[in-house]
Amino acid sequence: MLIVNIVDPTKLEAWQALKQKAAQFTPNLREWFEQDPQRYQKFSFDAADLHVDLSKNLVDDELVELLTDLARQVDLEGHREAMLRGEHINVTEDRAVLHTALRLPADAQLRVDGQNVVSDVHEELARIYAFANQIRNGERKGVTGKLIKTVVNIGIGGSDLGPVMVYEALKPYASKGMDARYISNIDPQDAAEKLADLNPETTLVLVASKTFTTLETLTNARVVRGWLLDSLRKVDPEVDEAQAVRSHFAAVSTALDKVEAFGIDPQNAFGFWDWVGGRYSVDSAVGTSLAIVFGPDVFREFLAGFHAMDEHFKSAPLEQNVPVLMGLLNVWYTNFLGAHSHAVLPYSQYLHRFPAYLQQLTMESNGKGVRADGSPVTYDTGEVFWGEPGTNGQHAFFQLIHQGTRLIPADFIAFANTKAPYRDGDADMHELFLSNFFAQTRALAFGKTASEVRAEGTDEAIVPARVFAGNRPTTSIMARRLDARTLGELIALYEHITFTQGVVWGIDSFDQWGVELGKQLAKELTPAVGGDESVIDQQDSSTAGLIHYYLEKRDN
Ligand code: F6P
Repeated sequence: MLIVNIVDPTKLEAWQALKQKAAQFTPNLREWFEQDPQRYQKFSFDAADLHVDLSKNLVDDELVELLTDLARQVDLEGHREAMLRGEHINVTEDRAVLHTALRLPADAQLRVDGQNVVSDVHEELARIYAFANQIRNGERKGVTGKLIKTVVNIGIGGSDLGPVMVYEALKPYASKGMDARYISNIDPQDAAEKLADLNPETTLVLVASKTFTTLETLTNARVVRGWLLDSLRKVDPEVDEAQAVRSHFAAVSTALDKVEAFGIDPQNAFGFWDWVGGRYSVDSAVGTSLAIVFGPDVFREFLAGFHAMDEHFKSAPLEQNVPVLMGLLNVWYTNFLGAHSHAVLPYSQYLHRFPAYLQQLTMESNGKGVRADGSPVTYDTGEVFWGEPGTNGQHAFFQLIHQGTRLIPADFIAFANTKAPYRDGDADMHELFLSNFFAQTRALAFGKTASEVRAEGTDEAIVPARVFAGNRPTTSIMARRLDARTLGELIALYEHITFTQGVVWGIDSFDQWGVELGKQLAKELTPAVGGDESVIDQQDSSTAGLIHYYLEKRDN
């Protein structure tokens, strides 16, 4: 049963008003900045420790009014309250959506379906921290008595992308002598590469799967278990199998019965709940590899960062609510100005996996064609999120953002401090780096006119090619430094942006039925790929032809 009102947003007054505005819209960021010296002050905000400048977006006062009207008309605040209260807003799976409860402080109270979920969360966190500390201080060792140094996390989607992104982002904070590796793909070359130089005696394998049924993860877990036992036997032929698995395997799941059936000691299994979506789970037990490698204190800071952004999202007025405004601007670009994609460009090499992480968060959440009540949408939903760290992207795809024919709103992310304060002679390398960050959003916003190009003495024939139209919208997100807290804030920011867009579109942002058909067909096709002609015969000519090509070309 729907507990929140799902409406067709195109029928709302605010949507129609936005449509009218878009029809007459002639943005001119040069003029807007010249006419209003306060534009930066007006459109930049602090949300927790993040400073977010929206002023280089195609936005004016009237647009903020119309977009926040739209938010009110779809009852964004009511939906937000329903989510935070633990109502079953994931209607197609009849589940609460409570990733925000994962970061509530221990003294908070939240009863959902009769249960105080905050105490459940903190009990599990205490178990994870105790386990992490035992590994870190050597109380828990490998079966041959050696200290654990490497955590191998096996998982995919939400059970991989979050942890690997955070591990990469916070690498300088990893405890000395500890590292993590992440195996996700069922392509056997992934496991092969990650295991190649690994010492089994000092390795802990963490199998992470919300459902504990995912083909890729369970296959990799069995393969790695085989590798671990074989390699340990080379060190000690007498090694006890059960003892080895107990010492070297742990798991994270909502299905603890399945973990036990797999042979993992329940003492080494950490749970979470069906109200945590996979792509919203990095701050649950799914982050256990992070708690081990960085330590519980860093993980606590990470959670505190999420919570600080949750508080902003919960309490800031819509007109100053950063995730709400960013989500509404995305709706503006997608539904009224025709944007199809959204670039995320971290000016921090440590955030190199952040765009990939956001792809699952945003696209698995908002790539939907029907509303939560089953009615088809008649407007675009979920944009394609993509990106790479700057400055690398500048030398690759930025050309299209600057001068291409498509509108690509872009988020630029940068930090005032670096973990690597190198100098090149007199030049501070971080300053060179940040000059690029500032230069790009300026170039995108204000462009370069034909007369400016001519004034440089450019040959008339190539003037058009050297003109930059400008008015390409960007958001700049800055913080003092990239650390566990600001990273938690950044992730929560995008979670709430995604939520805001989903509410406007009336869709269920928390299911993912679109990934099911492929899984089902892969299972059906496995015998065909093994050469079963009776199954190949049932396929369309393309699929059958490709399988035959594979069967002919494979070695033996
Ligand atoms: O197939 C998609 C998906 O269900 C994602 O939503 C999820 O994050 C991923 O698979 C992994 O699922 P699990 O954690 O249950 O192994």
